[in-house]
Amino acid sequence: HGGGKRIRTAYHFQPAKNWQNDPNGPMYHNGVYHFFYQYNPGGATWGTGNLSWGHSVSGDLVNWLALAPALVPGSPFDANGCWSGSATVLPGGIGPAFLYTGIDAAGDQVQNVAFPKDPSDPLLRDWVKPAYNPVIPLPSGVPGDSFRDPSTAWVGRDGLWRVAVSAAVVGGEGGGSTLVYRSKDFRRWERNPAPLHASGKAGMVECPDLFPVAAPGHEEGLDLSSSSPAAGAARHVLKLSVMDTLQDYYAVGVYDDAADTFTPVEEDGEDCRSWRRFDYGHVYAAKSFFDAGKRRRVLWAWANESDSQADDIARGWSGVQIFPRKVWLDADGKQLRQWPVEEIETLRIPNNRRAGLLPGADQVNAGGLNEIVGVAGAQADVEAVFEVPALENAESLDDDHSNWLLDPQRLCGEKGASVRGGVGPFGLLVLASGDLHEHTAVFFRVFRYQGKYKTLMCTDLTRSSTRAGVYKPAYGAFVDMDIEEHGAVISLRTLVDHSVVESFGAGGRTCMTARVYPEETTAGNGEESRLYVFNNGTGAVKVARLEAWELATASVNVVTVGDDGG
Ligand code: FRU
Repeated sequence: HGGGKRIRTAYHFQPAKNWQNDPNGPMYHNGVYHFFYQYNPGGATWGTGNLSWGHSVSGDLVNWLALAPALVPGSPFDANGCWSGSATVLPGGIGPAFLYTGIDAAGDQVQNVAFPKDPSDPLLRDWVKPAYNPVIPLPSGVPGDSFRDPSTAWVGRDGLWRVAVSAAVVGGEGGGSTLVYRSKDFRRWERNPAPLHASGKAGMVECPDLFPVAAPGHEEGLDLSSSSPAAGAARHVLKLSVMDTLQDYYAVGVYDDAADTFTPVEEDGEDCRSWRRFDYGHVYAAKSFFDAGKRRRVLWAWANESDSQADDIARGWSGVQIFPRKVWLDADGKQLRQWPVEEIETLRIPNNRRAGLLPGADQVNAGGLNEIVGVAGAQADVEAVFEVPALENAESLDDDHSNWLLDPQRLCGEKGASVRGGVGPFGLLVLASGDLHEHTAVFFRVFRYQGKYKTLMCTDLTRSSTRAGVYKPAYGAFVDMDIEEHGAVISLRTLVDHSVVESFGAGGRTCMTARVYPEETTAGNGEESRLYVFNNGTGAVKVARLEAWELATASVNVVTVGDDGG
């Protein structure tokens, strides 16, 4: 079956049909947001040789017009596919440029440039691939299948351009290398002897993303090219996507703009798999851009399907993007904070809003369940602030012999939403059928450990679908925030969108995206999805704030603008 209509998203980015994977070349240019993505115009599977750059434009990051693909394979240097890459907005009216990976006629990965045919076209519809490509051929010592995904380029203080490219360097730094190439003219590129970063143990990495962040706690974004350490960037962030685990990892660190090297501020055992994650659920190949209009950094990432390929083919599409997030450095100087871009609020339906629990109630008692009525739950935005009256009820992990502290995901699996605790589990049940037979639980659970409290955040999918053959894990991570210092208060925001449950714990310190395939709700058999606040701890939890909105359906690639300008 595939459940196409029921699970198609209402406001997460999807092409009208077919396969999408990585975000490519997101940018803001002349007042327009551009989004490109790995796209197979020929069907709902990845389709090696066919990969193109799908293209959509938007004025608000919410509603998108589809354009013809910006890049399609066919030149000698990309005959077998236009793979991932990035956009760089060049100074001096030249307009933007792409750097992207081509799979050339011999099947090797090479790096190419492309430019808008008419930089004054507000939609940048047509792109030209110069015949002098590739600009960075496959270097010796790098296998032909392990050299790809150029980052946004940046200018150093010496006036040279730099770009970061992923590579497996045989006998060198090892699998997970991120190489830097430098150029005077964006055409002739020379490899810097030192890699930006090497994480040999991790194996091949993909899709590097390097960006500067402002001082801890400051939310404004910075442009990579005008934010050298000397020009006031407090820190840089490097994100790598690791093929081995299919996870994205990031570290806050020091970018040395003379040596072109990156060193994380936190100890990492020289393995980027120990870095933090943008998202502890199900996303990959994240890429950010600087939004010069609102002076913020915005992050995209791909969330693939987790039912079967046969389901993808049956419904004719596969893959969504996360809702774009603003990213900034937390006051602690070590972790990022993320939050859905504010434009999402334009989708909130004023009359389908619920503030507070049922009249007269401001807490959820032990074992309690309060329905959030008046909001159809298949496309919703829920914000809750929980206050824990008695932290001392927390379960202790002091005698933990199972090393649960090292494996929060396992802890979430063993202590799911229905397993009674001390402080928590408390949180939300979303995409729930009336009898709760199906539901996805997003919750916190506080533990005591060596005289301190540790807050676990989980998204438990074990009951998310009655369908068999669907991946239904419990995602988990510890929240890097001392709940005691925060007055025993913790917040949760969850975006629900048919088959996406995207959650932001503790003001965006811990984020978790899940793909779910509910069968019993969301218009499938006429039953509406429900939302609940629940508490399975031993004491009451106060709901200091609760706001839930039903979200309208955005116009995402419903309208296509033709090549003829029509
Ligand atoms: C990451 C990735 C990239 C590659 C692209 C191909 O998901 O494997 O490394 O460029 O997808 O679609």
